Amino acid sequence: MHYPHEVIHDIRTLNDIVDVISSYGVQLRLQGGRHFGLCPFHSEKSASFCVNGEEQMFYCFGCHAGGNVITFVMRHENMDFLDALKLLADRVHYNLPDAKSSTGAKIRARERERTAELNKQAARFYYEQLQQDSTEAELARSYLMDRGVHISLQKRFGLGLAPPGWDNLIAHISAPGSELATAGLAAQSQKNQSRYYDRFRRRLMFPIIESTGRIVGFGGRALPGGDDGEAKYINSPDTPLFNKSRQLYGLNIARKSRANEMIIVEGYMDVLALHQVGFTNTVGVLGTALTAEHVRLLKRASINTVTLLLDSDEAGTRAAEKAIPELLSGGLSVKVLQFSPETGAKDPDEYIQLNGRDKFSRLLTAAKSHVAFKVGLLKHRYALDSESETNQRIRFTEEAASLLTSLTSAIETDAYAQEIADISGITTSAILAEVQKQRAQQIKSQDGQTLIIPTSNRQRVRTSAEEKGLKEARKRLMNLLFTYPVTASALAKSEYLSPEEMCDETYSQLLVLAFANAQSKRHMPPADIIAHFEILEDQQKVAEIFAGETLYKSDIDMEKALNEMAFIIKRAWFTNEMDVLMQKNDLNAVNNLFLSKRNLSSLYITMGDG
Ligand code: UTP
Ligand code: MN
Repeated sequence: MHYPHEVIHDIRTLNDIVDVISSYGVQLRLQGGRHFGLCPFHSEKSASFCVNGEEQMFYCFGCHAGGNVITFVMRHENMDFLDALKLLADRVHYNLPDAKSSTGAKIRARERERTAELNKQAARFYYEQLQQDSTEAELARSYLMDRGVHISLQKRFGLGLAPPGWDNLIAHISAPGSELATAGLAAQSQKNQSRYYDRFRRRLMFPIIESTGRIVGFGGRALPGGDDGEAKYINSPDTPLFNKSRQLYGLNIARKSRANEMIIVEGYMDVLALHQVGFTNTVGVLGTALTAEHVRLLKRASINTVTLLLDSDEAGTRAAEKAIPELLSGGLSVKVLQFSPETGAKDPDEYIQLNGRDKFSRLLTAAKSHVAFKVGLLKHRYALDSESETNQRIRFTEEAASLLTSLTSAIETDAYAQEIADISGITTSAILAEVQKQRAQQIKSQDGQTLIIPTSNRQRVRTSAEEKGLKEARKRLMNLLFTYPVTASALAKSEYLSPEEMCDETYSQLLVLAFANAQSKRHMPPADIIAHFEILEDQQKVAEIFAGETLYKSDIDMEKALNEMAFIIKRAWFTNEMDVLMQKNDLNAVNNLFLSKRNLSSLYITMGDG
């Protein structure tokens, strides 16, 4: 669902940033036209958190958190963009229109609302059932206590009990069976289509709750002593609100830990076990593979590092292997932790029950990188030990090195080569040489000719100084383009830089926006530019662009700066592009690119009459 920018603008401007931030208990003091206070996003003793009422932006000089009023609410409430927008709209009694919805969309929206309402009633019913005096409730409570799930945790997660019997819930909630079926709480009888029965019976109930507090579905675990054939766990089926591949159990609570790292486990009980011993940044997948949707949820919760803590069986290993590329492609760092079978535990819950919190905590700190995990698997496959034959060790090392060829950072490559060396007993430099060799082989041409490229060119990894220079250039360029639209017009007219050439998704979008503003002669304040981005990370990036003020003495200076920055960015793009083409071994394209690169420094963008 998307709202037009005017609506977002209205909601943003109706909510004064100083009022909103103060209402969250941040004490602000006016000083030189700006408000200062203690940053709510990191702990500090001196006030480096600055709120600019005129620009309607905040920025922390300590932890560099920054953005507009929407960003603030997103961060403080750990909400996504739409939820923050809704909260701010409510705050000023602004009626959010139904965003561009068709009749079909309206019907689905109504179904979602109804499902949420029924789920809420059901959750309350299950919760009450768990507190009853019944035999099943007593059994369920003692089962939970036996497994170390204390009352406070039961409450925090809203655990409940679906009693035995076919129609307890149906009888309790006054709603047609078909509605309960749509919500996934009841199922239609095969024999008599007008009859419905409770889907969850004699089960411990785990409500699955979104960050807004909306209950989207349930998981249910069979109580001990049930029928032999029954599934240990069942989830809600797909409903207008629920799809098990799009939910992470416990995320509503885990995101409140405000951690940037998240632990991912496989089971409901594992989530509870970790929360019970204080690792509240833990979520569970609901018996499915990790999807891109999960990755998006994590990113929206400002997560940058994930520790996969999957079962120590073969299925768990396979699941980890599949999850790694998904997480990496979302830009997350990945660590993997598995218990060795000797610990006697197959999952984190068992491990903690057997070995206690401290041992677990130490294990967690020692979680290895995803590369080390894969190297470990290889080692297992080659059954490597001190007795291993040399040729086993060599083949192992070759394969392990191939895991490193795709890495783009020299530092990472080095660190992992070190890890492989530790396992294989082969020196780091030999492994690095193998990586180089394999990279070289990868860029051999299809017709058998070898393209000779000096090593330093082939593995064009930007040095950290280059990287820093590029980042700075992007920031300063954008600051310039938005502050002085005349520079944006000049750049657009010159066709010197295109959005893809920014080599960064956020900056590409920013350049498009800057060009559009220039064309429509519109001046857009930073707070509105930020509102074009829904992800916290992007908003943060944009805020940083405007955190510093750059003054130019003259138009000539401005023009110089424009050229300088555009050149740095274009050059970085060239280098990058060259790498890509060389990998593909597209010699023609490489040649053309070289030629155009030669002209690069002779181009000069003039602001002229703009
Ligand atoms: P496990 O069988 O590893 O369960 O399934 P567990 O969490 O360790 O269960 P306990 O400790 O015996 O209570 C892991 C996850 O796979 C899904 C559930 O989400 C479960 O938490 N699952 C498992 C199902 O969906 N259906 C099943 O029949 C079993
Ligand atoms: Mn378990």
